[in-house]
Amino acid sequence: MGILDRVAVGVRFFRKGLEDFDTTANVVSSSRWLVEEMLAKIPPDAKVVVEFGPGTGTLTRQILAKLGPDAKLYAIELEKGLLEGCVRAIDDRRLVGVHGSAADAATLLDASVVGHADAVISSLGLSLMDEPIRESIMVAARALLAPGAAFTQYAYVHARYVAYSQQRRAFFTWDARPFVRRLWPRVDETMVWKNVPPAVVFTCRG
Ligand SMILES: C[S@@+](CC[C@H](N)C(=O)[O-])C[C@H]1O[C@@H](n2cnc3c(N)ncnc32)[C@H](O)[C@@H]1O
Repeated sequence: MGILDRVAVGVRFFRKGLEDFDTTANVVSSSRWLVEEMLAKIPPDAKVVVEFGPGTGTLTRQILAKLGPDAKLYAIELEKGLLEGCVRAIDDRRLVGVHGSAADAATLLDASVVGHADAVISSLGLSLMDEPIRESIMVAARALLAPGAAFTQYAYVHARYVAYSQQRRAFFTWDARPFVRRLWPRVDETMVWKNVPPAVVFTCRG
């Protein structure tokens, strides 16, 4: 991946973040500590991985680095420009960019993926979404997973105490923990303080 492509996708993400923060949920990419924790549950022999919200491709590149030559990574992104920039910049035949919402994952992806994903990795900004949308994203993730496979999602800690929605022009609070625990029978949590902002990583199994 060329440095110019990398810079271009980073700039696009930053600008999109300023324009529509409720969708991107950040203006900078995840730190390496958060990325490491997010990818810890991908099995070494994974053949099919699905990513929700690749954005600049920070996690995407590292997921690909963990996968074998015949594996596939399906990356579902709502923002077409970001997706195209990310796929072009990474330029890896194992990466399949899918334009659309993660809530529609089961219909966007090939039937051979549904129920067969060895991991689903999500960096979507759930706190800024309406409740029915974030619930349908959890339902979609569960439908993709192979038996025993994990869904991994992070949430910024500060949203428990205060967060701001640009669209609603209002401060709000949202605690990811009860939401995730209501929708997933088995949940593990890990704190990542060395991220800006600090985040908690949820590993969920059906
Ligand atoms: C917080 S950013 C994560 C970017 C990158 N993966 C990272 O961790 O640095 C969230 C990304 O999810 C995308 N997104 C938001 N809602 C989405 C949805 N419903 N389906 C798919 N992607 C979505 C945004 O456009 C943005 O690129």
